[in-house]
Amino acid sequence: AAGGLLSGLRVLISAGPTREPIDPVRFIGNRSSGKMGYALAAAARRAGADVTLISGPVALDAPAGVETVRVETAAEMHEAVMARTDRTDIYIGTAAVADYTPARVADAKIKKHADRLELTLSRTRDILRSIAALPDKPFVVGFAAETGEVEAHARAKLEAKGADLVAANEVGGAAPGGFERDENALFVCWRGGECHLPLASKTEIAHRLIRLIAERYYAENTD
Ligand code: PMT
Repeated sequence: AAGGLLSGLRVLISAGPTREPIDPVRFIGNRSSGKMGYALAAAARRAGADVTLISGPVALDAPAGVETVRVETAAEMHEAVMARTDRTDIYIGTAAVADYTPARVADAKIKKHADRLELTLSRTRDILRSIAALPDKPFVVGFAAETGEVEAHARAKLEAKGADLVAANEVGGAAPGGFERDENALFVCWRGGECHLPLASKTEIAHRLIRLIAERYYAENTD
């Protein structure tokens, strides 16, 4: 991939869901399959980047030529990502990181005695925000998974998370893309503009998004 769009750059990508343990046999998870993040890792590699993928539990093989690190919980993903930010030019947060985790993990399997069982959850740390707050931060790409008003939520996340670019997709119900599907469509926005990547395979969407990210990265990092 010598001479590619991203050659000489180090790209760090998170992908997949996280699993937050409740007890030794149960967890809280979500529907992310890892397909979007793995497609981005492969596309960034093909564009010549040095790629590291931090992956939650998924059923996919590591993309060829990509250093892949497997983690389980949001806390582990936070740690694995933050340990590598000083060697990163571009961070792409595709992972569906749990926003809440059980406040306590039971040591033994919880038995079903009562009719109701309440779980207390605590907020997890936001990986994207932690990276965006670094003094020498990389170019930060966030994703936004929304069930409606995709464009407004994407703009709000761009600001709230301090990202340089946000790629938003509609998920759930009637959406043709998003979680688990082989295809996706994205609304992409940054401070100076926006564009739509219409429905296509996640492989194709990943190529287009990588091209766009390279364009925005160089627009902000040319001296
Ligand atoms: O994996 P697939 O099945 O292919 O599905 C792809 C996808 C739908 C998971 C993907 O395209 C996507 O939208 N990923 C982001 C999912 C998500 O958690 O979105 P969010 O709107 O809740 O989070 C916004 C951003 O904050 C994301 O970049 C997320 O990685 C980041 N975040 C969230 C919580 C947290 N504790 N730390 C974070 O960094």
